[in-house]
Amino acid sequence: MPLKIGHRGAKGYVAENTLASFKKALNFNVNGIELDVHLCASGELVVFHDFTLDRITNGSGEVSQFTLNELKKLTVQDRFKIPTLQEVLDLIDKKCLVNIELKGKNTASACCEIIKNYVEKGWEYSSFIVSSFQHLELEHVFKINKNVPLGVLTKANLEEAITFAETINAKAIHPNFSLLSKRNVKATQDKGYLVNTWTVNTEKAIARMNLYNVDGIISDFPDKL
Ligand code: G3P
Ligand code: CA
Repeated sequence: MPLKIGHRGAKGYVAENTLASFKKALNFNVNGIELDVHLCASGELVVFHDFTLDRITNGSGEVSQFTLNELKKLTVQDRFKIPTLQEVLDLIDKKCLVNIELKGKNTASACCEIIKNYVEKGWEYSSFIVSSFQHLELEHVFKINKNVPLGVLTKANLEEAITFAETINAKAIHPNFSLLSKRNVKATQDKGYLVNTWTVNTEKAIARMNLYNVDGIISDFPDKL
C-alpha cells in the first residue's frame, strides 16, 4: 500500500499548515505529513503555503518581509496561528515521515540546520523528505548535507524531473497525479526513485494511484487513503 501522506496536514478538514491541521492528520494515523516553508524576515522557517499572507490570514503582504514576532500576531482563518517548522516537528515528534516542501526562496540552509538539530536529538534522516519545485533550493540542500533525502516536485514534466533528480541524487519524484500512468510510474521506480504523488483527493483518483502502485499519496483527505 502507498504511504498515506496528509497534505498541509489535513487540509480538507482544518485550516492548512496549522498545528490543528497536523494534529488532525496524526489522528488519522498518517504515514507522513506534507508542509510548506518560507523564511521570514527574522530568519526562522515558518510553515505557510502562499508567498503572501492575504488569502488565509488577516494580514497582507509577503511572508518573507515579516518577522516571526509580527507573523505570530496574525490569525489564520480567524483562529489559528502560523507555526514555525520547529513547533510542527515538536508536535509530530517522530510519529510519521515529514515532507518539507521548500516553497520560499533561501529556505535550504535553515532547513538543513533544523534537520541536523533534530537528527542530533534522535530523529533519523529517513524521517524527512525535502521537496521543492525550485531546483536551486534542492541543489543547495544537496551541497550542504548529502544525508537529507530529496524529492523533485513537478506539475509539468516527469522526464525533466528525473533528469534533474539524477544530478542531486534525489530519492523521490513528486509528480502531480495527472502526469502519471501505470507505465511511467514503473519506469520511474525502475530507475530507483520513489513516486509520491499529489494532491489526490477523489476516490476515483485515489483508486487509480493505488492501481499504479505509487509509493506515496499526498491528500487533503488522508483518511480516505
Ligand atoms: O508537495 C505537493 C504539493 O503540496 C505541491 O503543490 O501548491 O500544494 O504546495 P502545493
Ligand atoms: Ca506543498
